[in-house]
Amino acid sequence: MPIEFVPLHPLFAAEVRGVDLAGLYDPAALAELRSAMHRFAVLVFRGQRLDDPGQVAFAERFDGHLHSKTGISALAANRFGNEALTDVSNVDADGQVLPPDDRRRHYSLANRLWHTDASFVEPPGRYSMLSARIVPPVGADTEFADMRAAWDALPDAMKQRCEGLRVHHSIAHSRQTLGFEFSPEEAERLRGVEQPLVRTNRATGRRSLYLASHASRIVGWPVPEGRLLLRDLVEHATRREFIFSHSWREGDLVIWDNLATMHRATPFEDARYRRELRRVTTLDVPATT
Ligand code: OGA
Ligand code: MN
Repeated sequence: MPIEFVPLHPLFAAEVRGVDLAGLYDPAALAELRSAMHRFAVLVFRGQRLDDPGQVAFAERFDGHLHSKTGISALAANRFGNEALTDVSNVDADGQVLPPDDRRRHYSLANRLWHTDASFVEPPGRYSMLSARIVPPVGADTEFADMRAAWDALPDAMKQRCEGLRVHHSIAHSRQTLGFEFSPEEAERLRGVEQPLVRTNRATGRRSLYLASHASRIVGWPVPEGRLLLRDLVEHATRREFIFSHSWREGDLVIWDNLATMHRATPFEDARYRRELRRVTTLDVPATT
């Protein structure tokens, strides 16, 4: 069956039909999906039957290098015994819904800030693959913003101002923005890295703004001045016309390009309903050949 791409938004994002990811090994089909990622930056696959090992194995086939020291690993052991499989859920190790005052819940609430995954490591995160196992009856959509379109729409003077700037990213910063506190040992493990503010896709040459809630300051600038520019840019990049919102169904798998988009979780009644998703993120390791 040929692969079909159905656009979901005027700028980016498509639903992919005719693909069963658990059984997808054909190199030509995988290459077609990678090239669709360059174009759409977000791909939605409905009705998938991936279990945990299947999801990890697919991520390895698709993009090779898995991010296995995710931010939350500084806080709690991974429930699945595999640090590459991030638990994007509101339940504890016994499957009980986390109470309102649970520290892991507070940490995860920062997913509601606009961000991109793994900008706080080097090499940074490239593709995230999030699969929905249990979803609440209402709410909890995930929103995506097209950072290529956001770059294209900047006035020339602002583009020139951004060129060449470097930004410090740490996952501690996004959590501290919400008042979350780390112990000195945790903070030491989460120091973060510098990233360029503007990126160029190696395959397409398309440029994009590289922003996240993890971005704490512009290197070499006074901190308040850098933070103001970062806030202005996030405000610009998250204008309605740049946003696609995904409503989850069980069995969905969504792949997004962290170097070309930002995303955020949206609220739901998280003390009442379970929401269980799993994420694997790959790293942007350039091909050596
Ligand atoms: C993530 C994330 C958003 C959501 O898994 O990286 O930000 O809606 N998830 O769960
Ligand atoms: Mn995320």
